[in-house]
Amino acid sequence: MNNFKAFIEENKEKLNTFAKEYIKKLEMPEILKESIKYSLVNDGKKIRPLSFLYLLKYYEIDYSKYFDIALAIELVHTYSLVHDDLPEMDNDDYRWGKLTNHKVYGQDVAVLTGDAMLTLAFEVLSDCDVNPNLKVRLIKQFANYSGAMGMIAGQVYDVKQKNYNVDADYLRRMHSLKTGRLIELPMDFACLVANKSDDYAEIREFGQQLGIAYQIKDDILDYYGDFEKIGKLPSDEDMITYLSFYGIEECEDLLQKHTTNAINIAEKLNNDLLIDFANYLLKREK
Ligand code: IPE
Ligand code: IPE
Ligand code: MG
Ligand code: MG
Repeated sequence: MNNFKAFIEENKEKLNTFAKEYIKKLEMPEILKESIKYSLVNDGKKIRPLSFLYLLKYYEIDYSKYFDIALAIELVHTYSLVHDDLPEMDNDDYRWGKLTNHKVYGQDVAVLTGDAMLTLAFEVLSDCDVNPNLKVRLIKQFANYSGAMGMIAGQVYDVKQKNYNVDADYLRRMHSLKTGRLIELPMDFACLVANKSDDYAEIREFGQQLGIAYQIKDDILDYYGDFEKIGKLPSDEDMITYLSFYGIEECEDLLQKHTTNAINIAEKLNNDLLIDFANYLLKREK
């Protein structure tokens, strides 16, 4: 089955169930548990954990053994969005077709929920079943992709864009950090877990190109997408995005260009699963 859509259909609910069961077992204040579950178990696409599992499958690894690593990946993504939606950041009221976390649990609990998901992600990773050297490497990479040199750096470039001269390079750097790093991470992790060092540099480059394309598509969908499908409303109109900077036509061209760059790399690797994945993201409507 070289079809990402079918893979999602087969595994998304399994991942949601795994996440629910995992959280249920943990001892923590009830409101925190509820709030984590509220944001984590949702109608989101789960692109990051599922692409990790999908690539493992390509490498003929029994991917069902690695749902915990997949959960860690989704935890860091979900935390980033719970914080991204806060009034101090994008101030959004809807996510995944329902009220944002702080609208339901309050800003105090929403901040703490994000903190809890991030720290829990590291705990989950520390418990995963891989050899100790690999585990340390995964943990370090995880911190790097999600932290001050990765996603958080990109978020700072986004919220503080008024302090900078926003040009094409700035936008690309911002996108590749705030979104690209967490799209690249599952590719990197699958390669490391499957011990495919020969593919490593190319797979990461594939992830980088796809990551930029992913955020361009997000900017387009934020503006032109249908709430029923994307489950969120456009954020602050004053912020510069790919769409406001380039306009829709050039944006579509750039989306195509970065996707094609990714597909060219996948072709070089002869990896038709990744080609299908890139095409799936290009055509997504949510
Ligand atoms: C939204 O990500 C924010 C970005 C980084 C572009 P997703 O579109 O992947 O979020 P889900 O699928 O709703 O969880
Ligand atoms: C979110 O970017 C990126 C991260 C949380 C890392 P956006 O603010 O552009 O995404 P949406 O539109 O709220 O999902
Ligand atoms: Mg934002
Ligand atoms: Mg936002």
